[in-house]
Amino acid sequence: MRFTVLSLFPELIEQGFNSSITGRAAEKGILSLRCINIRDYASDAYGHVDDYPYGGGAGMVMQAPPIYRAYEAARGENPRPRLIYLTPQGRVFNQALAQELAREEELYFLCGHYEGVDERVLEEIATDRISIGDYVLTGGELPALVLMDAISRMVPGVLGNEDSSRGESFMDGLLEHPHYTRPEVFMGRPVPEILRSGHHANIERYRREESLRRTLEIRPDLLEKAELNQADLSFLEKLQKA
Ligand code: ADE
Repeated sequence: MRFTVLSLFPELIEQGFNSSITGRAAEKGILSLRCINIRDYASDAYGHVDDYPYGGGAGMVMQAPPIYRAYEAARGENPRPRLIYLTPQGRVFNQALAQELAREEELYFLCGHYEGVDERVLEEIATDRISIGDYVLTGGELPALVLMDAISRMVPGVLGNEDSSRGESFMDGLLEHPHYTRPEVFMGRPVPEILRSGHHANIERYRREESLRRTLEIRPDLLEKAELNQADLSFLEKLQKA
């Protein structure tokens, strides 16, 4: 997977990306990151990339030409790269979208700042508009890192253990079961007995039930779309009666 990020704060993207599992995958050549500083494509020698909004109002708007020039320079031979503009006005990001985007060979991200970006350049270059949730951040850099992280771990070879992205929260529409490791007793709390029993079928069932319990308690909305078998439904019914 090749990522290209157009931003006014490329160092923030590079730091975030290179500090973790994504950085290690980049060293292995499974991922790559290229950051383009939009300010390098400013219209004047002062590096201005924003201006007052037409129609008045508070704040500044990022101008179209520097962004377009940065895009043109980055794009090379690719006639229409898939370019995601990060905005609270976008479609809300989730695991299914991460999986879909992970199938691309190349993704571009445009990080906005100030009050927004001139709509005309978005119409010209953005193929997707994505939000990471119903709150407003100061810029698109953190959302871009969130997307790249979630997408990267879906790319084969990025996680050491190919299994470790499988049983996780959201992959099957449920929250994940709790985890335990040594010591066996911590502050008077023992590890659940069943996990030390070595009985794999019972452990699987216990974990499934803890997933269901958590999901019912914290995110009951997820149960409507989750894939549930007869045993799951019986267990949920038992919980709801209790
Ligand atoms: N830019 C500012 N806030 C954002 C959000 N919630 N999601 C994506 N991009 C943003």
